[in-house]
Amino acid sequence: MPVVGVIGGQWGDEGKGKIVDLLAERADVVARFSGGNNAGHTVINQFGKFALHLIPSGIFSPRAVCLIGNGVVIDPTALLQEIADLKAHGVDMGRLFISNRAHLIMPYHILLDRLEEASRGSGAIGTTGRGIGPAFTDKTARLGIRMGDLLDKEAFRERLRFVLDHKNKVLTRVFGAEPLPFDQVYSQFVEYGQTLAGFVRETEMVIAEALDKKRWVLLEGAQGAMLDPDFGTYPYVTSSSPLMGQACLGAGVPPTKIDRVLGVYKAYTTRVGGGPMPTELTNEIGDCIRENGHEYGATTGRPRRCGWFDGVAASYSARLNGLTGIALTRLDILDTFESISVCIAYRANGATYHRPPSSLALLARCEPVYEEVPGWRQPTGQARDFKDLPKAAQEYVRTLERVVGCPVDIISVGAERERTIFVSELP
Ligand code: IMP
Repeated sequence: MPVVGVIGGQWGDEGKGKIVDLLAERADVVARFSGGNNAGHTVINQFGKFALHLIPSGIFSPRAVCLIGNGVVIDPTALLQEIADLKAHGVDMGRLFISNRAHLIMPYHILLDRLEEASRGSGAIGTTGRGIGPAFTDKTARLGIRMGDLLDKEAFRERLRFVLDHKNKVLTRVFGAEPLPFDQVYSQFVEYGQTLAGFVRETEMVIAEALDKKRWVLLEGAQGAMLDPDFGTYPYVTSSSPLMGQACLGAGVPPTKIDRVLGVYKAYTTRVGGGPMPTELTNEIGDCIRENGHEYGATTGRPRRCGWFDGVAASYSARLNGLTGIALTRLDILDTFESISVCIAYRANGATYHRPPSSLALLARCEPVYEEVPGWRQPTGQARDFKDLPKAAQEYVRTLERVVGCPVDIISVGAERERTIFVSELP
């Protein structure tokens, strides 16, 4: 039985939610290992339409145990809201477990995210404002508070006193903001601890046992490779690694145990927030992709920046993640175009680049070099087999395989589960 990872190959919002929801039908364990409620995984199925932020998209599977791993940062308010919404739709929460080692997003993290963004002025990252960066900063700075800490009220009181005292100094002295009252934060989080206690586990051991029993484990990534703090468009990135390797650290999966890595890519490119995006189209083509694809953020509602498929970023992320296959989503959004472009290289200062340069200034100057392919101008939403696709759409898929250097295993032609083509048999 395999361990399969599903990660985003671009700048996030690739449609990981649908792919995980589909694959989770066969999974025994589904685990999130990075990010927080900055993610918005859209799933449409028999229970309704959901934008999941923290709970794994495998939650709808009748049998999968769903884990929020230690690598995820948790805002208890957002989590409880999500649990309540899912329960109201009849989804069983008895199989959800949260790592006792997962760090918490505290109220000061959300305040600091917004204050830090405001202080960046025109260089603002365009964060989701959910406190993600400050929470991961505190984890590394050893100032974090973890899910398990809430279960011991006395130890938590001491820890919060120390941390809040420090954070209030930053809020008041650096940003001139109001301090947060200890009693209010303490009592609110003690209550969260009591409400969530039944969900808290050593989730890495749940995975270890599943591996021992050779069970099917699905690792659900969040965001996309180009938002990675090391390999993405730094500093316009998120604060935890969206790469497959992060599953080892953020869920406790040994590196030698991951059998397959599925990279989810849209048939074009989108990005939310600031930072370079070489194939961005600030013209009617970009607008058309945005409107056809309803490209507005599932978490913040912000319009997404849209452009042609960036094969330079895509092949780079395929290598970094060691992809064994691609899940290509939203092919149907390109149905109306007469001709479609695929970026195969960047050019800047007279030089050609086949990988994204690490220098932000250089990347910002990069112009895309395009290969033109004919469009198909026919609806693809009803295709259920690769050969049902118009010839030009088949050619487009083959072009992307060549450019990314990886076979396409799944093609999605609509948000619903049934609008899916399995090109090759998955484990
Ligand atoms: P943060 O993760 O909220 O700190 O935001 C940092 C950057 O990552 C911003 O550009 C966000 O728009 C982007 N980002 C974070 N989460 C997602 C996501 O799930 N999809 C797309 N972009 C995201």
